[in-house]
Amino acid sequence: MTLKISIHTMLFMLYFCKSSADVNSMYYPRYHLAPPYGWMNDPNGFSYFNNEYHLFYQHNPNSSMEPGITHWGHAKSTDLFHWEHLPIAMYPDQWFDMTGVFSGSAIVENDTMYFFYTGNLNHANEEHDHEQYQALASSADGVNVIKYKNNPVINGSEHQPNIRDPKVWKHEDTYYMVIGNSFNNNTLGRVLLYSSKDMISWEQVSVLAESDGMLGYMWECPDFFEINGLFVLLFSPQGIEPESDKYNNLFQTGYIVGTFDYVTHRFNPISKFKELDHGHDFYATQTFLDSQDRRILIAWFSMWEQNYPERIYGWAGQMTIPRELTLSPENDLIQKPVEEIAVVRDNVIYTGKNIYRSEAIALNDNTGEITLKARPSSNIELFIESEDDLAKLTISYDYNEDLVILDRGGDDGVRRTQWKPIDILIWNIFIDASSIELFCGYGEVTFSSRFFPSGNITVRLSNESFVDEIIVATMKRTV
Ligand code: FRU
Repeated sequence: MTLKISIHTMLFMLYFCKSSADVNSMYYPRYHLAPPYGWMNDPNGFSYFNNEYHLFYQHNPNSSMEPGITHWGHAKSTDLFHWEHLPIAMYPDQWFDMTGVFSGSAIVENDTMYFFYTGNLNHANEEHDHEQYQALASSADGVNVIKYKNNPVINGSEHQPNIRDPKVWKHEDTYYMVIGNSFNNNTLGRVLLYSSKDMISWEQVSVLAESDGMLGYMWECPDFFEINGLFVLLFSPQGIEPESDKYNNLFQTGYIVGTFDYVTHRFNPISKFKELDHGHDFYATQTFLDSQDRRILIAWFSMWEQNYPERIYGWAGQMTIPRELTLSPENDLIQKPVEEIAVVRDNVIYTGKNIYRSEAIALNDNTGEITLKARPSSNIELFIESEDDLAKLTISYDYNEDLVILDRGGDDGVRRTQWKPIDILIWNIFIDASSIELFCGYGEVTFSSRFFPSGNITVRLSNESFVDEIIVATMKRTV
């Protein structure tokens, strides 16, 4: 009898024979997606195919210490929380992507997944030390990805060297692509719009928006979508200077709302650039419209140049909770955990009006969901700490100033933003081993930050914090 093992199965076996991350280590997320080993950054190719969600991501399989030469990692899920790791979808094996299969997106058509990504080509000792090309790939079975033979589909010679992160969608019979770019000698960022009738031959049709100098030197990971008849340009600019409570991370992710005309290809902003999240670790977002017409967003739940301690456990980086986006009447993006979060909710372990120090609630497995309701005229201080480091992370509300403050301690520990509850003050807080996501109100304001407790986490309120209700629930493990 001959043993039939396909190349694909062999690669898959090899993949899992590699030293894997210690998923039982303290910081590895229990219900967020993280790499099985190695490095993870941007979400890529977020899509729904054959009744399953697919998420690809920037991945270095060879090291958790640095991005290295990125590949496309791959996982799929039926509920956005239980993820199955799949073999690496794309390797840096072409002349134009030899030094990185960079970020990109997917669209699904005719039972096929089509991917658009950036091939990064570094070459030392020349005026431009790299070039970036847009390329096409596809998959008929949702696992094996084949690169198009006549790649790259966009050469972009007039926009080199920073032209990357294609996000593609279809409107009527035409495909559209936004690409991040820098111009004016790499001093200003912008988003280019291309269109195509066949996914292969592309032409630039406009510059969708550009930096006036205040919005940085490069715009990464653009996304452009319609919501309530308006259009949102979401992107991750590099090089915005900090301004009081704003723009305090190395790089930002934010959006501009406007109108868009498919005939002239002009985007007319009706709002200024606003940061999408106010925590320390939220970058390179990607959205897609799922089969129920929900605009679902996910972000890399980390930030460049951070050196977080998880790296020594064989993995680095993770994704946020997938969030459903809507637009408020004031044209602000509202973010809510997708309703599938219910699949990881577990038992309520506490309901009350205060948790004094002596009664601090221990979080099982360092995970939990905390729901807090209070009158808007309340000052609140919530402590998330472990035995050895009291007040490791504090979330407070200062009602005189309408300020929400998250302090994870250490240098640069504080992030704050203005927020006024619409009626009652509601916080939804998700804790998962080394991360916290705070959703304020109905999702008007969010904070996403990593933090690294030294032991078992407990939760309590300051003795002066009186709330109408605080509920603490445990979360289920999905890894
Ligand atoms: C954003 C980014 C993208 C690029 C990718 C490389 O974090 O810099 O612009 O495609 O990461 O990993």
